[in-house]
Amino acid sequence: MTTVTINDVEMEARPGERLLDIARRNGAHIGFVCDGTGFCQTCKLKVLAGSESLNPPTELEKTWIPEQRLQEGWRLGCQAAVRGRGPVVALTNAEELRRQTFAVFNPPPGTNVADNVSALTRNILQQNIDQIAGYPFNMLNAVSRIGLGRLINPWQSVERFNQWLSDTAKVIDQTLRSPVPAPSADPLDRVRAAAADARRASE
Ligand code: FES
Repeated sequence: MTTVTINDVEMEARPGERLLDIARRNGAHIGFVCDGTGFCQTCKLKVLAGSESLNPPTELEKTWIPEQRLQEGWRLGCQAAVRGRGPVVALTNAEELRRQTFAVFNPPPGTNVADNVSALTRNILQQNIDQIAGYPFNMLNAVSRIGLGRLINPWQSVERFNQWLSDTAKVIDQTLRSPVPAPSADPLDRVRAAAADARRASE
């Protein structure tokens, strides 16, 4: 069983399982508006350790995520699947935005509101610039790969739709009840620390 840590929480992963499915099963803070078809990008996450234990980026990821961001570890949770023994450590974009927003209202020691507004704005701007830079080819390419049928109805069955509803409710409930990590100088610090721990454990 491979260990995957998403948003600081350690989870067990089955071989071949997608990071999105692991996160959904555990109610981790992640988006999945398109139910994993590869269109909405709300499942975007950053792999901080263990990228060698995942499949290489798929064509859909290359469509949406610029090469430089792929190099930085950005993936789509619905496209990245466990292939090795791990451990894998990742922080979802949804959770990063939550932490950055929290830091605006509760500036970590040594920072002020302006620093944190700037970090949050940079993150949002960067994501939008990446999208706009590839438009409309990224959109057209994704539509042709996924197909209109799945785009219009990603669930394809009542059972899948019910599962999507149930997982969405679980993620919202768990996210609202889970404390926002203690403010730190960098919202990613705690995840980096977890990555270092995981690396040490695997050595
Ligand atoms: S869930 Fe929509 S792109 Fe991954």
